[in-house]
Amino acid sequence: MKHQLQQKFNEIYHKEAQHAYFSPGRVNLIGEHIDYNGGLVMPCAITFGTYLLISPNQDNVFRFKSLNFDENPEVNVQDSYKKDNDGWFNFPLGVIEHFTKDGHKITGLDMLFFGDIPIGAGLSSSASIEVVTAYALNELFNAGYDKLELVKIAKSVENNFMGLNCGIMDQFAVAFGEKDKAIVLNCDTLEYDIVPSNLGKYVLAIINTNKSRKLVESKYNERVEECQTALKDLNKELGLEYLCAINAATFDKHKNLITDEVVRKRAQHVVEENDRVRLAADALAANNLSEFGKLMYASHDSLRALYEVSGKELDAVVEYAKTNPQVAGARMTGAGFGGCAIALVHQDAFGTFSKELEAYYTDKIGYAPSVYQSLIGDGVGTLLVSSEA
Ligand code: GLA
Repeated sequence: MKHQLQQKFNEIYHKEAQHAYFSPGRVNLIGEHIDYNGGLVMPCAITFGTYLLISPNQDNVFRFKSLNFDENPEVNVQDSYKKDNDGWFNFPLGVIEHFTKDGHKITGLDMLFFGDIPIGAGLSSSASIEVVTAYALNELFNAGYDKLELVKIAKSVENNFMGLNCGIMDQFAVAFGEKDKAIVLNCDTLEYDIVPSNLGKYVLAIINTNKSRKLVESKYNERVEECQTALKDLNKELGLEYLCAINAATFDKHKNLITDEVVRKRAQHVVEENDRVRLAADALAANNLSEFGKLMYASHDSLRALYEVSGKELDAVVEYAKTNPQVAGARMTGAGFGGCAIALVHQDAFGTFSKELEAYYTDKIGYAPSVYQSLIGDGVGTLLVSSEA
């Protein structure tokens, strides 16, 4: 892969790339839509991700080139940068803006990006490109940030430059992920454990519904606001910093403080999902995959019925999974509204699972999903840049 990219870089820029970096995407095993509520989440980095080959130039210009998109803009080095419509290059541009605003002198760069994560499918292609850019700039310009600071920069780019009020899970996962490990992250304190993602006889399937997601930003930001309303209502009597500061039993006692029925449902999901993550972490540590799977199903049901971020495509995947005794559990992963689901499938049954699911889904939805067996990989890092590598 790197060798081909180095050749491409050569073709485009007529020189060698001096540096190369990779940042993965992620799946979230459980703990959905609770990172921005101070909850516990359990993501893993995957082996799909974003490559960045980069060399400084003397031309005072940022050249953004991607093998995934036709748009290849050039932006002059300036004192500040603004988001430019919906172009893919806004993610790295936002990172450049952040470093510049923080007082780092970011000079001209020739960049080549390539991603093998399905784009916009809920596997954090955005966090991946943000984090790989932040990591590269940090190294090239000796900015001196540690990894957690880079994660916070990437999140701030998503929030302030791109306008999505997301939590910290995705950027954290793609930076701190480790091969064959899951992260149990407390999004309030940012304390985390790296735990073995010991799936025993099961493998992790990623099912891309291939439903193009629309209006994700506005619906996502609407959910964030609903959670803020719920918190305000609960704080008529309680003094909570986040919704996830209480468990389901406490929520039950006070839920009537929340006046709007829809907002109450949203808060119920958040609080119960947080409890589920604790149980899921215990189940994983005890190698109890069947319990883990049940919690995945419960998570999906809650995201469908209470949080209303699923859809007929994601539901079809989970409906099929429930009919197959070789599947321990399945759920949507990421923001939802289309995108990807994950399933824990017995290793001997993966082939049949794929085939049957494809048939079931195509019959119901009218087009095929894409089914992958996912490997859990390492977080962001440097790649060696020899054209032989
Ligand atoms: C998106 C956001 C994350 C998180 C998930 C839902 O991936 O970027 O911060 O909120 O949705 O769990």
